[in-house]
Amino acid sequence: MTDETPGADSARSDPAADATAVMDLLAGGGIAQILHAVTALHIADHLADGALTAEEVAERAGSHAQATYRLMRAAASLGVLSYEGDRRFGLTGRGRLLRDGVPGSLRSQILVQTGPAHWRLWGLFPEAVRHGTSQARKALGADVFEYFARPENAEEAALFSSAMGEMSTLVTQGVVAAVDATDVATVVDVGGAEGQFVLALMAAEPRLRGQVVDLPHVVEGARREAENRGLSDRFSAVAGDFFIEVPAADLYLLKTVLHDWNDEQCTAILRNCRSAVHDGGRALVVEMVIGDIGKPDFATLSDMAMLAMTNGMERDLDEFDAIFASARWRREKTYPVGGGYYGMELVAI
Ligand SMILES: C[S@@+](CC[C@H](N)C(=O)[O-])C[C@H]1O[C@@H](n2cnc3c(N)ncnc32)[C@H](O)[C@@H]1O
Repeated sequence: MTDETPGADSARSDPAADATAVMDLLAGGGIAQILHAVTALHIADHLADGALTAEEVAERAGSHAQATYRLMRAAASLGVLSYEGDRRFGLTGRGRLLRDGVPGSLRSQILVQTGPAHWRLWGLFPEAVRHGTSQARKALGADVFEYFARPENAEEAALFSSAMGEMSTLVTQGVVAAVDATDVATVVDVGGAEGQFVLALMAAEPRLRGQVVDLPHVVEGARREAENRGLSDRFSAVAGDFFIEVPAADLYLLKTVLHDWNDEQCTAILRNCRSAVHDGGRALVVEMVIGDIGKPDFATLSDMAMLAMTNGMERDLDEFDAIFASARWRREKTYPVGGGYYGMELVAI
């Protein structure tokens, strides 16, 4: 154990400080709901043109004035809003990320992570640990992707795709800068959601033709995104099941797809890519990678979300390599691409 391990040295532990630290950790759930309320009420959007009083915000948001003041005060204590005096609040850099439709926005991410599916699944988290698997069937009556495919959950599903897109924008610049696509003509974004990843690559490489393969309720969003970016003529979106088949390509992109599935399922997806690619073809996997145990590591927290939500997990490099090898891929390069994610370049063997 090292001094970097929080609370590791029991001989030097201070019970009062430890209790405060545990209470701070426990506040995480409430903090998430503060972000939820600020985002759902568009408070950051109301403050976009400058500071307002809580009463002015409440009038625009259609919310209770005193409750809005208390919410904004809490958000100011978290550094999401600034306090300007006289019950007036402004936006901080963090607060700007809660705005709708601005570059770098995390609005969909916040709404989906505090929305019904995620919240109900976290409610059964101890059960997930007891049984070693997500309690999605019990909490939602379906696995999480079946739940999102139901027409009555269309709005939440669209938020989920958009939330994935927001996370993609954190990493695409790093990937585009790192990946060498000179010998690539066709790219398939496997489970590509709105296609942010492949579209960023296509924008940087005008020769590339790109495709998203994803579930039927998702692909329309990808077509819309390609149209918005003026890339429709080189892009298509295919409704399909990556456990059955993926279209042929020179390069496959798999961003935060493998972490949704167990090892056997990951092998099946990668084998389908391997069957459709020529020898020497490539794949680029973007995922978090679990690092040294006992150090602060966001990947281990994301791993808990995977346990709560899915059949999957975050993995360390050895675990990834075992899956890659079983599907006849070899990892050739690994590099950080931003936001705690790593690009892993694979070659077909
Ligand atoms: C965690 S999201 C990642 C989305 C995207 N790659 C990104 O990072 O923005 C996983 C994606 O896999 C898709 N998916 C789930 N099951 C699938 C299946 N059987 N076939 C194809 N896509 C699937 C989901 O609809 C979702 O878009």
